[in-house]
Amino acid sequence: MAKKKSILDIYKMKQNGEKISWITSYDAPIASFAEQAGMDMILVGDSMGMVVFGFEGTNPVTMDMCISHCQAVRRGAPNTFIVGDMPFGSYQISDEDAAANAIRFIKEGGVDAIKLEGGKSMASRIAAIRNCGIVVCGHIGLTPQSSGVLGGHKAQGRTVESARAVIEDALAVEAAGANMILVEAVPPEVTAKIHELLSIPVLSIGAGAPCDGQLTIFADTIGMFQSFTPKFIKKYADIAPVIIDAFAQYSKEIKEGVFPSDEHCYHVIGDIAPFEEMFKEFDK
Ligand code: KIV
Repeated sequence: MAKKKSILDIYKMKQNGEKISWITSYDAPIASFAEQAGMDMILVGDSMGMVVFGFEGTNPVTMDMCISHCQAVRRGAPNTFIVGDMPFGSYQISDEDAAANAIRFIKEGGVDAIKLEGGKSMASRIAAIRNCGIVVCGHIGLTPQSSGVLGGHKAQGRTVESARAVIEDALAVEAAGANMILVEAVPPEVTAKIHELLSIPVLSIGAGAPCDGQLTIFADTIGMFQSFTPKFIKKYADIAPVIIDAFAQYSKEIKEGVFPSDEHCYHVIGDIAPFEEMFKEFDK
């Protein structure tokens, strides 16, 4: 039987210099594909707001949406290390709120860890969640839930002052007790400095290679999200045209009477004659 991954396996990978692969998933089939592909971690990201629900951003995502998607992902990937992403409003108000909602992710969502956005300003939230015995992943740099105050989805750490702030956030997240940290959309030089300073695993999304592993949004990585592709995405497949072509062919064959054919039908058991006799009863 396959062994379920824990935070100790993630630490071991860092120690051994083995890069950590991480991808988002929001449902059981994609989670199962990720597990079959040998992905080390899955993030049930609040990016489900755009990818699954068609919102313009992540902020409308609720705790209930996250919990039910975490449950689906856990069913699809029983042995993968799963991180649940705390949605906007679930931890910003108080340490107590943060702890209570993080507990819901573990108890109801079945995940192994939670992720929350923010550096220094979220240090007490990180500590409160860790004090409940929950594995925490910090998230700094571009933090989409506060893109309003960042002036949009903009890369961070590109000036000396901004880079200093990102590094100070990273130090604060580790000092607060986080078990790992995700750095989003900062220059690789800044990521390298964070990696050098921190002892917890440092993961990147759009923050370059010099760290312990990489995260991407699955729909970007396989060409399924058509609205926008970030600069840092490498497409490993182009799934959207494959799906659209298949749907178009299906629709055409329905209209032409080509589908379904005999091979796609169930057949009566035995001779058809008694059925035809019985059908006549309905004609009276
Ligand atoms: O929700 C998500 O997928 C994320 C990534 C953008 C880091 O938080």
